[in-house]
Amino acid sequence: MAPVTTEQDYDRLTEVKQFDESKIGVKGLLDSGITTIPRFFHHPPENLPGPKPKNRPRLTIPVIDLSGDRSTVVEQIRQSASTLGFFQIINHSIPVTLIDSAVGSVKEFFEQPNEYKMRFYHREAGKGAAYSTNFDLYQSKAASWRDTLQVRMSPVEPDWNAVPEMCRAALAEWDKAVVGLGEELMLILCDGLGVKSDKLKELSCLEGRACVSHYYPTCPQPELTVGIASHTDPGVLTVLVQNEVGGLLQVKCGDDWADVEAVHGAIIINIGDLLQMMSNDEYKSVEHRVLANPAQGARVSIAVFFNPSNRDKLYGPFPELISTTNPAVYREFKYDDYMRRFFTKELNGKTLTNFYKIDNTKE
Ligand code: OGA
Ligand code: NI
Repeated sequence: MAPVTTEQDYDRLTEVKQFDESKIGVKGLLDSGITTIPRFFHHPPENLPGPKPKNRPRLTIPVIDLSGDRSTVVEQIRQSASTLGFFQIINHSIPVTLIDSAVGSVKEFFEQPNEYKMRFYHREAGKGAAYSTNFDLYQSKAASWRDTLQVRMSPVEPDWNAVPEMCRAALAEWDKAVVGLGEELMLILCDGLGVKSDKLKELSCLEGRACVSHYYPTCPQPELTVGIASHTDPGVLTVLVQNEVGGLLQVKCGDDWADVEAVHGAIIINIGDLLQMMSNDEYKSVEHRVLANPAQGARVSIAVFFNPSNRDKLYGPFPELISTTNPAVYREFKYDDYMRRFFTKELNGKTLTNFYKIDNTKE
């Protein structure tokens, strides 16, 4: 049967296409002087933050001092990774100036004139570098108020000519620092699980890195849309830094949302779906979202996603964690199959892990 297309759907697709083909992104829309947002950005009420519950202390994510005693750090990270799935680290040995220059270079790019940015605009995820807006623009029911610059760092180095000039040196340096940090964190996370320390490294999890920089401009009607819809990250681990416009990133905590306080110089870490599955649910990949930005200045963040580079291997729960009392909760799968599923759906909630789940109650 042919899909039913209503008048409203048709209008929506036309408007979305027009916006995409204009290549100006959300920032360009804002600069055009709009005071109300196009209706294809309107999210249903269930996606929007309701009024804050009164009389409850503000929930925040843990801050871990990475320079502390090793066994304490392993325990603190294991604890956070097993519950909230998010933590911030301080005293992590990456100079704050490196964070500031990476974030600053991205901000500078997004604040260039439309004509400059348009040269980098496309939606071909496979290419080394892409500026665009809402990677799921054509899959999602509602668009979100942010633009994105994605650079694939490895296993193949990007074509640096395809990366905006002002970001080249800063993002290359940032990537180098983040690999070192990623390695340290993976060792700690493996220790916390009680598996061989370099297990994740051996599985090539340091080598499939994507550096995804987001720009969240001021939103004229922040109560009607979001910056990024609630989702979990698909990969192993995410390393995130942001500028000073805080209070917009939130992490799901039961029925509630915990705020991620912007601590200058701190680095936010979260567990992805793949690590949740490899750890057989010991570590948790938790839903998070960014609210639409009501502030005068733009919020800027850079997420580095760590994925395996070996796409032919089968991934699944580590065999050494499995026993008769602790059976595998997931079946094995190829990473390629997994990423295809991620990129053909809208960014929405936590659905990928469920797809590979084994129902152990049946037998
Ligand atoms: C992401 C993400 C949060 C942010 O890119 O997956 O959750 O603060 N980003 O930009
Ligand atoms: Ni995310």
